[in-house]
Amino acid sequence: MYDYSGKVVIVTGGAKGIGRGISLAFAEAGANVLAADVDVAAGQQLEKDGAALKGELRFREADISKAIPCRELVETAVSYWGGVDVVCNNAGIQPPASYLPADELPEEMWDRIMDVNVKSRFLMTKYCVPEMRKRGGGVIINTASVQGLQSAYDVPAYAASKGADLSLTRQLALDFAKDNIRVLAVNPGTIDTPLVAEAAAAKGLSVDDLRGEWAAAHPIGRIGTPADIAKAMLFLASDDASFMTGSYVNVDGGLMAKGAWA
Ligand SMILES: NC(=O)c1ccc[n+]([C@@H]2O[C@H](COP(=O)([O-])OP(=O)(O)OC[C@H]3O[C@@H](n4cnc5c(N)ncnc54)[C@H](O)[C@@H]3O)[C@@H](O)[C@H]2O)c1
Repeated sequence: MYDYSGKVVIVTGGAKGIGRGISLAFAEAGANVLAADVDVAAGQQLEKDGAALKGELRFREADISKAIPCRELVETAVSYWGGVDVVCNNAGIQPPASYLPADELPEEMWDRIMDVNVKSRFLMTKYCVPEMRKRGGGVIINTASVQGLQSAYDVPAYAASKGADLSLTRQLALDFAKDNIRVLAVNPGTIDTPLVAEAAAAKGLSVDDLRGEWAAAHPIGRIGTPADIAKAMLFLASDDASFMTGSYVNVDGGLMAKGAWA
């Protein structure tokens, strides 16, 4: 449906889960995609799986919680393809060991979650905005979460990080609207990714049992797929969404429409 030929897209956390879906979808639509991840094996697999797509799909190892790798990612995209048009700030963590109330959560765990889930969005923005200005605009899309809107129990750092992603999205949209840079967020409901397997292990459930439990919680009767999120991003990054900035889209099978009393 969309033609991203000639566009340059960076996807963080792009080797697995939702990010892998986003990387493949943009490359399928013709974009040149730089997928960044700490998981090298998954990144190499992604490159192989995406080799026949319309756009070029390349992987680069990068820990996006740190400034230098973020700067180098932008430089790499520019050296390969001459600029940056779209950044999908998608990498995020919710380690099972972080499922604790605040009085039991180690400070280091709080810091790590904030660095990966929030600081990375700031850093990638800092380094890509000058390049987007040179191209006359761009789009930044942050993968937040429905947990930025409503909370589960015992996820203080993750919930705070996703609320911060939404707040930062609004702020960046205001500050860069004059540069024709749109900034948006997507809030996934439960999406079938390796993160679900981690959660199942932490709860002592089988992945299938947990999938079933979560599917029943979503009004639409299933959990989502990485492709569900990628399709929303293809739209948000396109000119069809040119009047959208500073807001979020829930891609959640109706989860946020449902009250706790339902
Ligand atoms: N899966 C869900 O149900 C769900 C729901 C709501 C929001 N989200 C959000 O979606 C995003 C993607 O989650 P997912 O489910 O695909 O997770 P995932 O664990 O399957 O994939 C995340 C990817 O990010 C990479 N990554 C982790 N730390 C990194 C770092 N420091 N630098 C670079 N890459 C790093 C991982 O190696 C992995 O490839 C996250 O921001 C997550 O919070 C997921």
